[in-house]
Amino acid sequence: MARIAVTDGMSAKAVEMLENAGHEVVLRHYDPDEISSGSLAGFDAVVIRSATKLPAEQISASVSSNGGIRFIGRAGVGVDNIDISEATLRGIVVCNTPGASTRSVVEMTMGHLIASTRNIATADRTLRNGVWAKKQLRGSEIGGKRLGLIGFGRIARGVAQAARSFGMVVHAYDPFVENAIEGITMHDSVDEIFSNCTHISVHCNLTNETRNLVNTERISTMPGIGADGIDCGNHIVSCARGGIVDEDAAHQALESGQLRSLALDVFESEPLGPSPLLNHDSFHGSPHIAASTLEAQARIGIEMASLLIEFFDSGKTSTSLNF
Ligand code: MLT
Repeated sequence: MARIAVTDGMSAKAVEMLENAGHEVVLRHYDPDEISSGSLAGFDAVVIRSATKLPAEQISASVSSNGGIRFIGRAGVGVDNIDISEATLRGIVVCNTPGASTRSVVEMTMGHLIASTRNIATADRTLRNGVWAKKQLRGSEIGGKRLGLIGFGRIARGVAQAARSFGMVVHAYDPFVENAIEGITMHDSVDEIFSNCTHISVHCNLTNETRNLVNTERISTMPGIGADGIDCGNHIVSCARGGIVDEDAAHQALESGQLRSLALDVFESEPLGPSPLLNHDSFHGSPHIAASTLEAQARIGIEMASLLIEFFDSGKTSTSLNF
């Protein structure tokens, strides 16, 4: 029997699977100070989402001379909140659930793209304030425009498929994708995405190379005129990771009009505190909920519970990020 700490929540079905397999599940959030003082060392495994951070010092505080965690489960995709090298050094297996939330994040990205180009949030706000802003809220279509995808993994491919069904012309840049992909114009540099596309969606990981990748200089090269000749302005969406879009630069671009809309589900610092973006009508925000659907969380929970059961039954997993 293993003791499993679940710090950022898990579906009831997944907890039931683990308990039926004989494991003890403790559902409780531990703050960084508690983790630093060894609160996780009494567990065999920990399952986190993005709210719990496990840098090197937290991982070393979670192992002890007579045990401690042997498995870190990331219930979701991004692993920028885990020091995987430190985990590997200590023999701790790290697993995520890379495909389980794809459809939810694709839908959220398309939702933000359409909401921001059609001013849906502003329309709702003004309507509630008793203003019938029919004349002021003219948007632009996404059909006939160039959509640039930065990163071309599972989610970006889903977005490409959905965007093409709306008539968008899809461009992409991903240094890890070598093959040509039918219907997609692949580029050799991220700069080419900015200079060609009026609409951009971010789908890469947060790394030292991608931090502030969306910055003043690059935004200033976006064309503003759609492939169909319409003055649709420039639009950026990110449901990937905070820190990839330079929020100050994006705010300045909204102020200057170089960006006509910005939609972010993820922020450099979460939860988002006071931010000038929140005063801007052309900013559409959400609190990191792209993967927060009933369906994605159910799939993530079942996949994670299966990995944990496999690991504690056999000492290994069929898929892991480091072993
Ligand atoms: C993920 O990486 O899976 C998503 O950003 C969702 C999350 O972290 O909660």
